Amino acid sequence: MSILVTGGAGFIGSNFVLDWLAQSDETVVNLDVLTYAGNLANLASLNGDERHVFAHGDIRDREMVDKLLQAHRPRAIVHFAAESHVDRSIHGPDAFIKTNVEGTFKLLESARAYWTGLDGEAQAAFRFHHVSTDEVYGSLSADAPAFTETHPYEPNSPYSASKAASDHLVRAWHHTYGMPVVTTNCSNNYGPYHFPEKLIPLMIVNALAGKPLPIYGDGLQVRDWLYVGDHCSAIRAVLAGGRVGEVYNIGGWNEKPNRDIVHTVCTLLDEMRPDPAGPYSRLITHVKDRPGHDRRYAIDARKIERELGWRPAETFETGIRKTVQWYLDHADWVAQVQSGAYREWLSTNYTAR
Ligand code: NAD
Ligand code: DAU
Repeated sequence: MSILVTGGAGFIGSNFVLDWLAQSDETVVNLDVLTYAGNLANLASLNGDERHVFAHGDIRDREMVDKLLQAHRPRAIVHFAAESHVDRSIHGPDAFIKTNVEGTFKLLESARAYWTGLDGEAQAAFRFHHVSTDEVYGSLSADAPAFTETHPYEPNSPYSASKAASDHLVRAWHHTYGMPVVTTNCSNNYGPYHFPEKLIPLMIVNALAGKPLPIYGDGLQVRDWLYVGDHCSAIRAVLAGGRVGEVYNIGGWNEKPNRDIVHTVCTLLDEMRPDPAGPYSRLITHVKDRPGHDRRYAIDARKIERELGWRPAETFETGIRKTVQWYLDHADWVAQVQSGAYREWLSTNYTAR
């Protein structure tokens, strides 16, 4: 038995692969094209482990994906591969349409051809698990109820619009062709191997380097934060017991304004790696806001709890402490990603701000 994971060298994908193989001997075939966000160093602990099969390739490559499915005959596909950074989607939406929309379409077509050829029992057991985001639901006012699975789609950024399009394709492949799909929409993840373009790792890495901590606008935008290990356990729960054709929202019950997140990171660093120059909060700067910046996301995760008994294991306090410690312990990983494309990206996004 095996599963195929797409984007398994990225932040959440690599955490998922590591978690999966820590709990099961079922082979993971990991299809990843290795964009700037894909980093095989995340999976270095699996070197020589035959349960992890890495396939370097693009989800848009029909011929290659068809062959991969025939060669490994997975019982499920867990689809993480995407362009994932909102700011990059504003600077260059093209790659987002190519991977998130066209890529999901091509992958669905490969999966459909493979699934159609399975025998009755294998066909019924097969799952296409689509990993999506809360951003497809748009922005909430301060006192609006959290997103349920039936909240209307109102994506506001090129990233969220491309993810919304992919969600609709997955839904249509179920309704039209009967493909056994499940979709999960999750809030902001944080934890080990998070690429330091996103808020939490950027703040940790910049603080340790004595660089400015750029908060967009007033910093009162609210996100719900989920430790990445909890996202992985939620996906496993949905894959194992989620109802076909259903959507499950995944969240941490942990809404916080960005400003609080940055101050928490600074306070933890003051305690864990004090800087003789003074408190890290001295590095906070307010910079020009993200265009079209969504004000608030909040997830109502009662459905997954009711149906599958899943709740996050980490609180924000435990998860953020573990995360800061991980970055302190992995300066080599940080140094490795702080090269080439990463440095170019920093200047593209921040010099004009
Ligand atoms: P990431 O950017 O860290 O990783 C994406 C991975 O996909 C990389 O390894 C990259 O090389 C690979 N990839 C990109 N284009 C590809 C292609 N055409 N073919 C094959 N591989 C390709 O992303 P992440 O933060 O780990 O997010 C994973 C998924 O979870 C995405 O679908 C994202 O939309 C979703 N999601 C992320 C978050 C979050 O907070 N990070 C929250 C909710 C949902
Ligand atoms: O909500 C789920 C989404 O969370 C995922 O679908 C995306 O893939 C993921 O990137 C993340 O999107 P965000 O835009 O919320 O994440 P980001 O870390 O880029 O930003 C978090 C918040 O912090 C957001 O309100 C913007 C703000 N921010 C971000 C950066 C990088 C800053 O204030 N300063 C910064 O330098």
